[in-house]
Amino acid sequence: MLIKRSSTIKSSEITSEDNYLNRRKFIQSSTLIGGSLLSSRLLGANLPQEPFAELDDVKSSLYSTDEKINNFLDVTSYNNYYEFGTGKDDPYRNGKDFQSRPWSIEVTGEAEKTGIFDIEDFVKPYLLEERIYRMRCVEAWSMVIPWVGIPLADIIKSFKPLSSATHVRFETLHDRERMPGQKSRVLKWPYREGLTMAEAMNPLPLLAIGIYGRALPNQNGAPIRLVVPWKYGFKGIKGIVKMSFVKSQPKTSWEMAASNEYGFYANVNPKISHPRWSQARERRIGSGVFASKQPTQMFNGYGEQVAHLYDGLNLRRHF
Ligand code: MTE
Repeated sequence: MLIKRSSTIKSSEITSEDNYLNRRKFIQSSTLIGGSLLSSRLLGANLPQEPFAELDDVKSSLYSTDEKINNFLDVTSYNNYYEFGTGKDDPYRNGKDFQSRPWSIEVTGEAEKTGIFDIEDFVKPYLLEERIYRMRCVEAWSMVIPWVGIPLADIIKSFKPLSSATHVRFETLHDRERMPGQKSRVLKWPYREGLTMAEAMNPLPLLAIGIYGRALPNQNGAPIRLVVPWKYGFKGIKGIVKMSFVKSQPKTSWEMAASNEYGFYANVNPKISHPRWSQARERRIGSGVFASKQPTQMFNGYGEQVAHLYDGLNLRRHF
């Protein structure tokens, strides 16, 4: 990953944590703990066409952290999205006019159900959930982000993958006109990512369509992106147009760019340094210039949910 100068991070707040928590329209649902509050009104996510539009009927999740969330400006102006440039504020500046509609997602490979689906139909059957997750970038900074989305496992189940599928592979839109950063050779396009089937079926990964109760801004990956909170942020592929069930471990963009630096697994691991910097500590964006770095947690603090996925795997070799 390119490391930019330690950038000027704007700290002014356009959405304070308190304002956000007060105004959000969430359904305090007990569905996660077995109760059934689902009414017909709640079944089916209505995906607004515009970035930033308010999302209705979002239920809160027991998987959320109660750590202080980052402010909206941090989350939307300090981004990595190389399709719009490699600077942290490039995605915000160069992605402003990106049109994320119409949008379709192609599902291919080892599954009973495959096809091309309009994004609205893709998300319609599901309830939206808010998940407040820590995000740890491989560049040793982190944020806490209130995502809105659908558990990836629920979406995958609906396509009935065959037992021959070992991994799921994702691709971002490939369009040099709409994504001018793709004219640069910094990565092989389209951006590609993947998970093992066991990882993908874990309850934590989310296909996010929003942040802060609103539809995803372009710079955060509109209209739909992956969030895998125990892995480095680069696994969270944005602007997804293709999901494939495949029979072997797929090559990912960052692996193709520098396989000695970025592995397929990319689990957050404070004990395994990047060849060019330590991963033991992280800078929490928005904590102020004088704040000290905080220790990085194994699996970004999600070990209870995911450590079993790696039983017997040599994490030093499979970094
Ligand atoms: N997805 C695509 N298509 N292109 C990218 O350059 N960058 C990744 C990931 N997803 C990237 C991407 C990296 S390196 C990180 S850290 C996260 O997006 C950042 O997500 P955020 O900008 O919403 O914080």
